[in-house]
Amino acid sequence: MTRKTLKIALAAVATLLVTLTAGVVIASTKTQSTGLPEYLGSEACLGCHTEQYVNWEGTAHANGLITEIKTPADLPPIDKAPAELQAEIKTATHNFHGRLMKIDWATGEMKYLGVEINSTGDGYVANTRRGSSWDGTCSGCHAGTKDQVTKERIETGIGCESCHGPGREHILGKGDPSKIWNSSDPTKSCASCHSGYNAAPNSTRFPVGFRPGMTLDQVGFMVAKIDQSKPAQPQHHKGAVPQWQASAHANAAYTLNANDHAQGRCYECHSGEAREIIEGGGTFNPKDHKVTDGVTCTTCHDPHNASIPNALREEPKALCESCHTAEIAEGASLKAGATAHHPNKEMLAGYGAVGITNTVGAHTGEATCAECHMTGGNHEMEVVRPDQVAGTTQKDSCTSCHTDSSPEARGMYLDLWQTKVTAKMKDMKSSIDVIDAKLKTNPSALTGDLLAKYQAAKTNYTFVDADGSHGAHNFEYAMKILTAAQKDVEAARAATR
Ligand code: HEC
Ligand code: HEC
Ligand code: HEC
Ligand code: HEC
Ligand code: HEC
Ligand code: HEC
Ligand code: HEC
Ligand code: HEC
Ligand code: HEC
Repeated sequence: MTRKTLKIALAAVATLLVTLTAGVVIASTKTQSTGLPEYLGSEACLGCHTEQYVNWEGTAHANGLITEIKTPADLPPIDKAPAELQAEIKTATHNFHGRLMKIDWATGEMKYLGVEINSTGDGYVANTRRGSSWDGTCSGCHAGTKDQVTKERIETGIGCESCHGPGREHILGKGDPSKIWNSSDPTKSCASCHSGYNAAPNSTRFPVGFRPGMTLDQVGFMVAKIDQSKPAQPQHHKGAVPQWQASAHANAAYTLNANDHAQGRCYECHSGEAREIIEGGGTFNPKDHKVTDGVTCTTCHDPHNASIPNALREEPKALCESCHTAEIAEGASLKAGATAHHPNKEMLAGYGAVGITNTVGAHTGEATCAECHMTGGNHEMEVVRPDQVAGTTQKDSCTSCHTDSSPEARGMYLDLWQTKVTAKMKDMKSSIDVIDAKLKTNPSALTGDLLAKYQAAKTNYTFVDADGSHGAHNFEYAMKILTAAQKDVEAARAATR
């Protein structure tokens, strides 16, 4: 379709919209005979989904990928270019990170010009790409919405239909929800672009023929599995989807489905779908409604929200801490006898254990969960330990902040922290097992003050254990907790009959 006919088609949709929103039912299906294409572009959604549209408009998807050259001022002054390139620069329609392109709307194809903006951004240099098609390499993911079946290019941003599929039938059906793809399953939408830079059999780098709702194998697109024995790689062109699939987040709903003790409210942190229901004030019952989604892309991101960087639902700190918490009030502590569950937030902040002074550690208020667990944007959520990458060029999770010390030195610290904490925990665990066994056969084996102290010590042990970092989150606090608890546990052990 030419740009002109696209405009006419959009005008037809606009008329249809006005009619529909005015509540006047016309024989709208007639419009089908006007030959409307299946894909209509994001503007066609604006009338009925104003909120999503306005918020999507500011996202990197809508804007950052490739910029349309609207006026000469969008480029460095043309007289800065070598004379023989100037005529060509004037034909450029798009700029992708400095590389100049020309789109042919008739065929939907985008081709490289033989010129790009220089590295300092104030002039031009020639390149050897002239005439080569961009479509086989980068544009499938970077140049937005294109009907991969008819090859029509709809718009150059990642529009609504890139994730929701073609909108014509949905619109002609006056918003029929069954005619539009709406799912939080990333393997059937985001995966088309966020699976990394792969070699498919048809020698393209993106899944040609894909539409939201399909799986990648349906169009023969091969995705490299993440090798979890290797340290977590930076995200760039490796793909957030396969990384996420390798993370515990992808399986969080299955964990509960396999757990007999799981009640509806447990799902608030284990399933994005359930979370939405519960946060919306509803009740969630796994018996009526089975979920398998887990903590998925749209649990953390909102593609129609540009107000937080990376289109996140909350700032990274608050986001991770909304689930990775034992839900202990700020600065308060657990009750003796309680069992702590995932107190990552509390351990890092240095509060929550029974009867122990709140303790600021080296990283309290200095580092967030994502800064250590998502190095380079990695979605496996794995810390890259200094010792894992020693002798390679890969960065460990500590490098971004600790440029002064060597990886070896940091690695030694981490080892020291974890070795000390693990050793204390091991000693305590064997004493706890002995005491618990005695208490089972003789409930009055411990009484009064000793029993109370033992219960508090055991709660504090679960606090350190359930944090799971073995001292990495707050070594000072973990050691203080374990040292005090060990004293009480040993006294209890000596006293048990
Ligand atoms: C990057 C992919 C992506 C883009 C671009 C996108 N959406 Fe969505 N949208 C989704 C996903 C995924 C969901 C489902 C979210 C969920 O259930 O967790 C969704 C949900 C919706 C919903 C259901 C209600 C809601 O807000 O959850 C509407 C309506 C919607 N999108 C409209 C739009 C419109 C209109 C545009 C363009 C202006 C758009 N979307 C652009 C991915 C996208
Ligand atoms: C399979 C889809 C896909 C293909 C093909 C692809 N990219 Fe990307 N690219 C992405 C995604 C998704 C991102 C954002 C996340 C990331 O960094 O992986 C990205 C990010 C980038 C960025 C960083 C953007 C920024 O603002 O930081 C650059 C530069 C880039 N790509 C260049 C290219 C070039 C050049 C090609 C062609 C040789 C290409 N890409 C091909 C999917 C793709
Ligand atoms: C004529 C008005 C209208 C237009 C135009 C329109 N929609 Fe909708 N859309 C609706 C209505 C109404 C609903 C709610 C349907 C329901 O929940 O019963 C809806 C629901 C949706 C949903 C959620 C479906 C679900 O399963 O709940 C998505 C996603 C969506 N629209 C995307 C889009 C996209 C993308 C476009 C543009 C291509 C678009 N819509 C254009 C009226 C419209
Ligand atoms: C919606 C709730 C939720 C949010 C938000 C969340 N997580 Fe998780 N996270 C979970 C659940 C639930 C699990 C455990 C899943 C399982 O084992 O089935 C988990 C597991 C993990 C694990 C792996 C633990 C292990 O034992 O392997 C890490 C690391 C992690 N999350 C880090 C993060 C970081 C970093 C953030 C913020 C960027 C974050 N999480 C945000 C709920 C969440
Ligand atoms: C406040 C958020 C939240 C709630 C509510 C929640 N979980 Fe979790 N759950 C998590 C997080 C975060 C993890 C990952 C912790 C880790 O690996 O250190 C997790 C991990 C798990 C695991 C696997 C790891 C383990 O500890 O064995 C199971 C099983 C589990 N949860 C069961 C439940 C059950 C049962 C409930 C309801 C009684 C529940 N969860 C409620 C956040 C939550
Ligand atoms: C547990 C929460 C969580 C989940 C689940 C999640 N993300 Fe993210 N994502 C984040 C956070 C936090 C950041 C910002 C990381 C940072 O600041 O380094 C981010 C950043 C990104 C980026 C930018 C990365 C870069 O290198 O610039 C992309 C792309 C992305 N996410 C895509 C996805 C996709 C696709 C999915 C689903 C497969 C997904 N995310 C699932 C929390 C999440
Ligand atoms: C048609 C390809 C395509 C689809 C489909 C797609 N993305 Fe992207 N996405 C990209 C590209 C390319 C970038 C890099 C943009 C840049 O920085 O220039 C990107 C960037 C991002 C970012 C980081 C930038 C930001 O601030 O928003 C997030 C987060 C993200 N995508 C999440 C998602 C999620 C979640 C889905 C599925 C619901 C999805 N994307 C679907 C191509 C796509
Ligand atoms: C200073 C860096 C740092 C910060 C900040 C940090 N972590 Fe960790 N975290 C680690 C290290 C190191 C480990 C231990 C990894 C190992 O043993 O290989 C760890 C372990 C964990 C584990 C145990 C499972 C696993 O993946 O090994 C979870 C769950 C976890 N962190 C979640 C979080 C959450 C949630 C936050 C924010 C409240 C957070 N972390 C903040 C460095 C950090
Ligand atoms: C987001 C930034 C950030 C990250 C990521 C980070 N740190 Fe730190 N770290 C700090 C700051 C700030 C301090 C306190 C100021 C100082 O002593 O330099 C600190 C202090 C330390 C100290 C000194 C503690 C003491 O008791 O003297 C060690 C050791 C350390 N970090 C190790 C690590 C390791 C190991 C990692 C990776 C698992 C890591 N850090 C990741 C910011 C960070």
